[in-house]
Amino acid sequence: MNKATRKAVIAGNWKMNKTPAEAAALIEEMKPLVKDADCEVVLCVPYVDIAAAVEAAKGSNIKIGAENVHFKASGAYTGEISAEMLLACGVEYVIIGHSERRTYFGETDQTVNLRTLAALNAGLKVIVCVGETLEQRELGYTETLLKFQTKMALTGVTKEQLKNVVIAYEPVWAIGTGVTATDDQADEGNGFVRAAVAEAYGAEAAEAITVQYGGSMNAKNADGLVDKINVDGGLIGGASLKAADFAVIVKAASK
Ligand code: PGA
Repeated sequence: MNKATRKAVIAGNWKMNKTPAEAAALIEEMKPLVKDADCEVVLCVPYVDIAAAVEAAKGSNIKIGAENVHFKASGAYTGEISAEMLLACGVEYVIIGHSERRTYFGETDQTVNLRTLAALNAGLKVIVCVGETLEQRELGYTETLLKFQTKMALTGVTKEQLKNVVIAYEPVWAIGTGVTATDDQADEGNGFVRAAVAEAYGAEAAEAITVQYGGSMNAKNADGLVDKINVDGGLIGGASLKAADFAVIVKAASK
């Protein structure tokens, strides 16, 4: 493994938080704190905050992402947003298949795949989320499930497009719970994801892909997590709403 050749990505997932004015203010606060980052810094924000966030981040090293995308380019899909629309607004990244979308909004491995293909074909970078529930872990299905979810999400994605794919291993039991995976659990989960990429695309592609950890990563535990060989940064929920905490995590990933 040569972790040094992979680019760590620290991405905030703001979920359903912040108005446009609050988003702009938080980004202004973050900009000076993360300007020397030696990793990719992304903030995934609610759709209505995108314009304000893109404006606030202009000229900085912060990239703006969305939290979901529809798989059709346009049409009668009330309430949905297409990849082309996001690109036109200055969005560079999009989170796909977050466990909250799988749990509350009927997201399936198939729709995750459709969204991934649509986003990549339009030219967005994707952060695809995979992760097991506590029950699945206790039953011993973590490896099987992570490999399945990863391969399903990437079905039809070309080797070339894989360069625009980040995968976030997010154990469902660790998201928003304050229960973080141990450094070794995160490393193992990320390793299963990387192994799935190796099975589908070969060792070189697996070596190159950025695999994040997500789930209660914070200013205190980030150091140990991102130190692990298979952990190339993180997808950060709660701690990405506080500039100082987010900056500490960015610093940890910049070492
Ligand atoms: P959390 O969320 O950091 O608040 O646990 C992570 C995520 O949902 O991506």
